Amino acid sequence: MMNKKTIVAALAVYSMSFSALSIAQQQTLPPIVVQGAMPIEVEHFAQKLENPREDQVGGWRFWQGTVDGYPVVVSETLKGMSNVAAATAIAATQFRPVAIINQGTAGGHDPALKVYDIVLGKYSVNLGAFKTPHKRQGEGSDSLQWKPMDLLASKGSAGEDKNAHSIRQFPADAKLLAIAAGVKNSYKQGNVVEGVIGSADVWNSELDRIRYFRDSYHTSAEEMETASAAQIAATFNIPFVGIRVLSNNITNQGKYNPQTAQASQDYVYQVVKAYIANMNAK
Ligand code: 5AD
Repeated sequence: MMNKKTIVAALAVYSMSFSALSIAQQQTLPPIVVQGAMPIEVEHFAQKLENPREDQVGGWRFWQGTVDGYPVVVSETLKGMSNVAAATAIAATQFRPVAIINQGTAGGHDPALKVYDIVLGKYSVNLGAFKTPHKRQGEGSDSLQWKPMDLLASKGSAGEDKNAHSIRQFPADAKLLAIAAGVKNSYKQGNVVEGVIGSADVWNSELDRIRYFRDSYHTSAEEMETASAAQIAATFNIPFVGIRVLSNNITNQGKYNPQTAQASQDYVYQVVKAYIANMNAK
């Protein structure tokens, strides 16, 4: 007969071997990284992980766990282009992921999109990289005259480079995008469309400027991370997609709703499950 102590010891060994198994799995299989900037954009997903373990690297939190037995890392990137670039580089070197999905909230540029609609980023653009025309003292400033500046066009000065004045597009990985589109019908809170995500450390509330971005660069929505994460993922050659829910849209009076952050995570959870099922089928 086992006494109480033996049962407790046996349970401890059992649970240790369980976590050892998942760590072993995490070491052999390259994880999928799911990024979000704010606690409301990651904690709901982290709670869905099986056997989660929270770690901190610098100021960035990572939760390592599994979804359907496959390793997934949830990464809290913090807000803005610099923070997400650093978090993406950390994830790339620490976890060598098979894919990176950047998700969260965004503001609409397309009046046809409502709060809770989701944009699957077929590509993203940096809405913070421009060269201004020359103006003399007293001539003022007009951001609609600024020309895009592609910082990746050459190794020389982007300001002087004639080839650097078209906007750089950071494309989604075709397979990730197709899988993300494949779960559209599971989403009941709004429409899911493919579109362009614009990113910068700027919250635009000037309707003429938003219209200009939409007309010039075809943006569906704006936020502060996707293009930066996409740029770094591309530099590491890691398949990437940005997926954003509209939490606000001033082009059609769509009021800010932070609850939308949960809808983004629920959608991306379905994308991750579909991606894993697709890998397992091979
Ligand atoms: N403009 C810019 N960023 C937005 N975000 C949500 N809506 C917008 C918007 N209209 C996101 C950014 C950032 C935080 C401020 O919210 O990605 O993380």
